[in-house]
Amino acid sequence: MVATSLDQHDVVIKNYQDAKSNLESLRKLGATIMHGVDATRMKLYPDLQRRKFDRVIYNFPHAGFHGKEDQAHMIK
Ligand SMILES: C[S@@+](CC[C@H](N)C(=O)[O-])C[C@H]1O[C@@H](n2cnc3c(N)ncnc32)[C@H](O)[C@@H]1O
Repeated sequence: MVATSLDQHDVVIKNYQDAKSNLESLRKLGATIMHGVDATRMKLYPDLQRRKFDRVIYNFPHAGFHGKEDQAHMIK
């Protein structure tokens, strides 16, 4: 498994309180962890070019919002 984030490692640790332990768990399970990866430009990363994936999961993306992000029409 390859786990990536667009944010750099220090930003991930700062923004998500469980990030440090989650990353440690992923490492122990043998996952490859990469930061600073733009999911729309995966072919540009040599470490990703050499791999084949059967699933790509993009957790809870959103394209920005106006107003409150928890409003149903904004989530839609
Ligand atoms: C609403 S947040 C969700 C964060 C986290 N997955 C969660 O569920 O709490 C959306 C995430 O999408 C990421 N993101 C936005 N555009 C991206 C892109 N082009 N490539 C990779 N990640 C991107 C942002 O960095 C952000 O972490």
